[in-house]
Amino acid sequence: MNVDEEFSAIAKSLKASEIRELLKLTQQPDIISFAGGLPNPESFPVGKIKEILDDLLEREGPRVLQYGSTEGVNRFRDVLVKFMAERYGVHIGRDNILITAGSQQALYLLAKIFIDPGDFVVVEAPTYIGILTAFQSYRPRYVTVEMDDEGMNTHLLEETLRDMVKDGRKPKLIYTIPTFQNPAGVTMNLERRKHVLELAEEYDVLVLEDDPYGELRYSGEKLPLLKSLDKNGYVIYMGTFSKILSPGFRLAHMVADEEIIHKAVLAKQGIDLCTNTVGQFVASEYISRGYLDEHIPNIIRLYKRKRDLMLDMLDDHFPDGVKWTRPDGGMFLWVTLPPGVDAEKMFIRAVENKVAYVIGSAFFPDRDHKNTMRLNFTYPTDEQIKVGVERLAKVIKEEIS
Ligand SMILES: Cc1ncc(COP(=O)(O)O)c(C=O)c1O
Repeated sequence: MNVDEEFSAIAKSLKASEIRELLKLTQQPDIISFAGGLPNPESFPVGKIKEILDDLLEREGPRVLQYGSTEGVNRFRDVLVKFMAERYGVHIGRDNILITAGSQQALYLLAKIFIDPGDFVVVEAPTYIGILTAFQSYRPRYVTVEMDDEGMNTHLLEETLRDMVKDGRKPKLIYTIPTFQNPAGVTMNLERRKHVLELAEEYDVLVLEDDPYGELRYSGEKLPLLKSLDKNGYVIYMGTFSKILSPGFRLAHMVADEEIIHKAVLAKQGIDLCTNTVGQFVASEYISRGYLDEHIPNIIRLYKRKRDLMLDMLDDHFPDGVKWTRPDGGMFLWVTLPPGVDAEKMFIRAVENKVAYVIGSAFFPDRDHKNTMRLNFTYPTDEQIKVGVERLAKVIKEEIS
């Protein structure tokens, strides 16, 4: 049977990304990869998870192994109500929370409930590749807003929204990662956070606040969530336990007005019925026993050291004309090569020199900005950071000359 003929139009439009194909090259054992986006396995609290699992299975037995409700386990949602209030000053009820299989699923659900083909979604340039994949079946059109060291330039956002409305292109959603952005590593300042909220209200457009890295701050002052500044239900917040507990649990929470949560629950029912219940019970205990508060500083210590090391190595080895961001947190920094240097063409030579990165153009819906790249500093060992940056610096110098 020629199964290709049988696929739906949507399935036919799904293509493996070239980036994934390129990243396969980086999996040879002798390559030092700054390309991944993985937490360091040293950050996983294996002992505490085992202790909690043993306790739960002994005390509650089969209950933790049962299906749960689509919204999420009540105990976990109650813990998160407290978590959102205490940590971020976001005061909500249980019905404002949906537990999802990672925030990647939350993005998919939001596309499913909000996007019709041709709708306009405003994103930062560069943006998280995962939103492009989560949204692709719903075929939105993207409008990009440039960023600088203070995050999304909200004056440009204002101009963009004004122009869109003027020529009848109603913006459907604004997607932002305000804190330690993936891929750029930059953070939106307070003034701009307030401005985003003002614009959301003025143009009556929902804001998706994706916050996987906010807890991983290594320097600078904590800033309020957009959600904590939102008085009128314009912000849909997404938090995740992937970077502070374990990505393998696939646990995230979407926080929004009840009618949005309700619609997302209906969309989720058809996908997986419920999110992994064992993980939700474990995470509830992990937070309630105070382990999360104890453990986050350990992750921060580990990653701060790696961030500082990578920045020192870049300062010492990268040639003049190359710029990079100095992230206060998160997992990535963003490198801009001199104009005309093509990071995509350079990639093959980097791999030959046993070092890898992600090509920056992958993070732009229109695949421009060829002279950029993303580097991850959380996964490689300290030694790999040192050797890998030296290798990359050599490749860049050769490319420039
Ligand atoms: C900005 C952003 N959003 C969402 C995700 C998805 O995270 P998860 O599905 O593991 O919660 C990631 C993962 O790297 C990310 O960087």
